[in-house]
Amino acid sequence: MVADVDGSAPRLAAARALIQVLDQGRNLDMALDSALAGLVTAQDRSLARRLSHAVLRDWPALDYLLSALIKRRPARRDRLVWFILAVGLAELRDQREPAPAVVHAAVAAVAGAGLARLKGLANAVLRNFQRQRAVLESDLAADPVRAWGYPAWLIERLRHDWPGQWERVLTAGNQPPPLSLRVNRRYWSREKALAELVAAGHEAGSIASLPDALVLTRRAAISALPGFTAGGLSVQDGAAQLAVEHLELAAGQRVLDACAAPGGKAAHILERADVDLTALDIDAARLDQVGDNFRRLKLDGRLLPGDAADPMTWWDGQAFDRILVDAPCSATGVIRRHPDIRWLRKSGDIAALVDLQARILDALWPLLAPGGILVYATCSVLAAENHDQGRSFLERHEDAEVIDHDHLPGLACSPGRQILPGMLDMDGFYHLAMRRLQSA
Ligand SMILES: C[S@@+](CC[C@H](N)C(=O)[O-])C[C@H]1O[C@@H](n2cnc3c(N)ncnc32)[C@H](O)[C@@H]1O
Repeated sequence: MVADVDGSAPRLAAARALIQVLDQGRNLDMALDSALAGLVTAQDRSLARRLSHAVLRDWPALDYLLSALIKRRPARRDRLVWFILAVGLAELRDQREPAPAVVHAAVAAVAGAGLARLKGLANAVLRNFQRQRAVLESDLAADPVRAWGYPAWLIERLRHDWPGQWERVLTAGNQPPPLSLRVNRRYWSREKALAELVAAGHEAGSIASLPDALVLTRRAAISALPGFTAGGLSVQDGAAQLAVEHLELAAGQRVLDACAAPGGKAAHILERADVDLTALDIDAARLDQVGDNFRRLKLDGRLLPGDAADPMTWWDGQAFDRILVDAPCSATGVIRRHPDIRWLRKSGDIAALVDLQARILDALWPLLAPGGILVYATCSVLAAENHDQGRSFLERHEDAEVIDHDHLPGLACSPGRQILPGMLDMDGFYHLAMRRLQSA
């Protein structure tokens, strides 16, 4: 454990997480798990998390500024100093902390990293930035990658797919997300949950079209929320709660959640209706998390490891009344929660994802009972994974009929509905509900 006397420990932890994400391609949550392990206080952990998010949101600008300020790139063994300084620059730019405190903490973090010989460099870089800030920053706006903080391929794709909305999508992806909750109806009503939260000193709002959602106005420790441990609340964005509305659930249905882990939507299904649920996922370790969630929420569903694209290896031959395909996707709709996605996801990944999604859809469609509903969902904002995918599915399957659900939020995008990030303060999500017609 590191006792933090000079503010260096959370900055150093953030830099250690960032080097893993940006140089080694590691997922941020995993990188933070190891990097934050040595921090003593929840406040330091939260600061390190916030700083790592801030740097990832603005990485091209920060990297550019550092290149302008440091004439010779540090040697490979000193690479961590680059990330400590990126954290320092991000803090100087957002001006939450007084500049001398930021510089002091960054220089102490450089020493804490065992790079004391670079303290002078760190001090000079941050002070020079303060002096030359206006000139240096004037270069940022001309380049879309530096200005927006996204890779060029993603900016291009969003401009193409959402010509009227792409700037709003990029802006929303750079905003910190709200803390959205799902109320477990089997445990209490939304009104009761809200009353308990308010009594415990929290402020929360609701969204009319999302009957189970509450949004906290200030961040809070989840496990300390009233009712959380007992199973009354889960953390889930509002857009993710829409899948259940598209499914038109009723008691007695046989339901397949085909890509179920970690179980957010599977649990919501069980909270909403007395159905016979099979939660399938290809990743057995992630399926364990579904089991953990069901236990906390006191829900009962069948867990099944298996490949949704190859049902003959796990299907018992009985048709399903409802199928949810919450498909593996680019996750470009949840970049505000996971700012690493924009750097870890590559343009070349999309075609393979589109192919996998199509294979899963085609393989599962015959498992749906005539009259049954399949809901295809992604947390993507890319047309190729969403309405283009839906369109080609409909061309291949004459016995599929789109259900419009235009009472639910989202842009109608023929077929399906798209929530763009920021709409009703939600994540980006796509839903397409289709009924299987009686065969001709
Ligand atoms: C978007 S996540 C699902 C999130 C989940 N529905 C929830 O609400 O918590 C996609 C899931 O699909 C799973 N997956 C990927 N390929 C699969 C396949 N071929 N068959 C079944 N599951 C798959 C992944 O392991 C991952 O857990």
